[in-house]
Amino acid sequence: MGNANHINDRKSVLLGVIGDPIAHSKSPVMMAAAFRAAGIEGEYRRLHVKSDQLEQTLQDIREQGFLGINVTIPHKVAVMDYLDELDEAAKKIGAVNTVVHANGKLKGYNTDGAGYVRSLKEEAVPDLAGKTVMLLGAGGASRGIVHALLQEEPERVIILNRTEYKARQLAAEFNAGIPVEGYSMQQAHSYLPGVDILINTTSVGMHPQTEDIPLPVELIPEGIVVSDLIYNPLETRLLRESRLQRGCTVHGGLGMFVYQGAIAFEHWLGFRPDVQVMRQAVLDSLA
Ligand code: ATR
Repeated sequence: MGNANHINDRKSVLLGVIGDPIAHSKSPVMMAAAFRAAGIEGEYRRLHVKSDQLEQTLQDIREQGFLGINVTIPHKVAVMDYLDELDEAAKKIGAVNTVVHANGKLKGYNTDGAGYVRSLKEEAVPDLAGKTVMLLGAGGASRGIVHALLQEEPERVIILNRTEYKARQLAAEFNAGIPVEGYSMQQAHSYLPGVDILINTTSVGMHPQTEDIPLPVELIPEGIVVSDLIYNPLETRLLRESRLQRGCTVHGGLGMFVYQGAIAFEHWLGFRPDVQVMRQAVLDSLA
């Protein structure tokens, strides 16, 4: 109780990340760097939590005075059952990756989509207004990004997916005001002309399948922005070939990871962390 987020009230903070598997999460090293840079004594624990331990873990988080947690696969949807409140974005996206424990209550947020959009704006496209954006993939990651992108007033959002009905379903859910359309990946050639920003949200090209590519690079309009959520490898085959063969500006997934963490930090502590320090910590741990 009395767990208001006034950093001056506390000497040290307790945080963590829950997931299964969790051994390879880069969040602990990134958050440790953020705390160090901010002069905060923080402990950020890696918590291996199986699905049947989720309820008990959330109870422990309340009782042990955690300031909050990050939530990763496979708990982003199930964790919502054990929270007291959800912010609007988390509600609409239907998934939570950040929990804040304040005033005795657990509140869920989703910082993945907003983190991605902040990274895209900081690193590649400062103003998304009026842009035509195409997303490859219609899963959880795509969903969060569509929600966050629509706050930026793009002209049009096109979702392509291997399984077409999922693209159509996701599009229909968000299609209000700004046009959001869903099609099969096989229709890429029809819809790519006119696209300003192409975003891969699928896992195609991720380590160890680094030679895979979600669509033939010849279809990509020359000189557009191509973005990939994958950060291992830092430059996927999609990005490399778009840059070398199509003259595209490319944007990798590391920034999304860094900014989703930075926005989580802001929810817990009320101020912005040093994102460059966080990025470097992840890069060092990948090396
Ligand atoms: P995430 O939370 O990362 O989005 P997800 O919800 O499991 O994960 O969604 C994975 C997405 O990647 C889906 O759009 C999936 O396409 P399907 O809906 O057709 O399954 C896409 N995906 C995964 N592997 C793929 C592959 N080999 N080729 C094309 N799309 C793939």
